[in-house]
Amino acid sequence: MTQILLVRHAVNDFVKTGKLAGWTPGVHLNDDGRAQAEALGLRLADAPLIVAVVSAPVADHPKIPLWEQQLSAGAVCLNLLHAAQAHGFAAQWLTGWYAYDPQAARWLGLRGGERFAGFLHIGTPKMPPTERERPDLEAITTRWNPEQD
Ligand SMILES: Cc1cc2nc3c(=O)[nH]c(=O)nc-3n(C[C@H](O)[C@H](O)[C@H](O)COP(=O)(O)O)c2cc1C
Repeated sequence: MTQILLVRHAVNDFVKTGKLAGWTPGVHLNDDGRAQAEALGLRLADAPLIVAVVSAPVADHPKIPLWEQQLSAGAVCLNLLHAAQAHGFAAQWLTGWYAYDPQAARWLGLRGGERFAGFLHIGTPKMPPTERERPDLEAITTRWNPEQD
């Protein structure tokens, strides 16, 4: 089933006056807004499958702290990435504004207390992933040596 989402989340000149457009007729995206809308469309079309991973912690769990429940959703994302890549797919973990937008959360069926941990874009690789500068591991690693303490 094809699902069409109308997304109105981009810049127009009216909001720059400090007012919200709402249902006001005649308010249109400006050049920046059109570029933002275009970028979102391209981003959501970059892979044939996007898996939204939702953190749905149990409130006041007697044993598992909230933080650990939230971290486990991140672990799901990483495991899915590894599984997809192990099967020869390209996969990337992304968030973006819609991961934090209450309206997007409502559209996508999230309930109270639930949050997106990430959107995993999965597809057939078309090019090798681009590399980037990596941190100096020695500079960000602390070693604990019991002999010195
Ligand atoms: C929680 C999370 C959210 C991310 N969101 C974005 C994003 O919105 N845009 C983006 O370009 N990269 C985002 N990334 C990074 C990409 O997934 C990145 O390409 C990927 O982590 C590659 O890892 P590396 O370059 O660290 O090896 C995100 C990563 C994580 C873990």
